[in-house]
Amino acid sequence: MTEIKATNITWHEGHVSREDREKMLKQRGALIWFTGLSGSGKSTFAYTLEHAVMGRGHLAYVLDGDNIRHGLNKNLGFSAEDRQENIRRISEVGKLYVDTGIITSTAFISPYRADRDAAREIVGEGNFFEVFCDTPLEVCEQRDPKGLYKKARAGEIKGFTGIDDPYEAPEKPELVLDASKVTPQEGAVQIIEMLEEAGKLSL
Ligand code: ADX
Repeated sequence: MTEIKATNITWHEGHVSREDREKMLKQRGALIWFTGLSGSGKSTFAYTLEHAVMGRGHLAYVLDGDNIRHGLNKNLGFSAEDRQENIRRISEVGKLYVDTGIITSTAFISPYRADRDAAREIVGEGNFFEVFCDTPLEVCEQRDPKGLYKKARAGEIKGFTGIDDPYEAPEKPELVLDASKVTPQEGAVQIIEMLEEAGKLSL
C-alpha cells in the first residue's frame, strides 16, 4: 500500500475536458499495456504500433520501461516492492496520457498480476488493453538483445525475471502476441483492429 503523505490538497477542474481534446484529435484516449518477459517483444510491438497509428493520422506515444527507468523511475530497482511502485507510477502517468486523448502504449515486464490489475483499476476499464507478449522464455533467452539472460545465468544479475524471479502470466488479457510467430507489423495490425472495434480511432 502506498503511504499517503499529501494532505491539504485540492483537486482543480480545468475548462477543457477529455472529450474536448478527443474531439480535436478525432480519437479516444487508450492505454495499451504490454506485459511479458524481457526480450518478448514488448518495446518492438509498442514502437511499431506507435508508428502505424501515427501513419493513420492519429497521435500516439510510448512509455518504455528501460527509458522510464533512466528518468522518472531511476530510484527504483527490481525487488517486488520497487517493481510495484514502478508499475503504480506508470499507471498514474498512463492515466494522465489517456486523459490527453493520446493512444498510449506502456512496455514494462510488469510481472505481478496484482500490480497489473491495480493498473487496470487506476486507468479504468474501457481505457485499458492488456497485451500479453507470450514469447517462450527459450526464444527470449536466445534473442537476449541486451545480453542480460547470459549475465543472469552466470549469476551476475540476481532476481532476473523468468530466471530466478517470477512472471505471472495474465489470465484474461485483451490480446496475446507471440513474437516468435507474429511479426511486429502483424501485431500492430491486430492491435489497431482491437482499437477500431473499441471505437478509439474514430469520432
Ligand atoms: S518491471 O518488472 O518493473 O516491470 P521494467 O519493464 O521496468 O521491469 O524493466 C525491465 C528491464 O530492466 C529489462 O528489460 C532489463 O533490461 C532490465 N533489468 C535489469 N535488471 C532486471 C531484473 N532483475 N529483472 C528484469 N529486468 C531487469
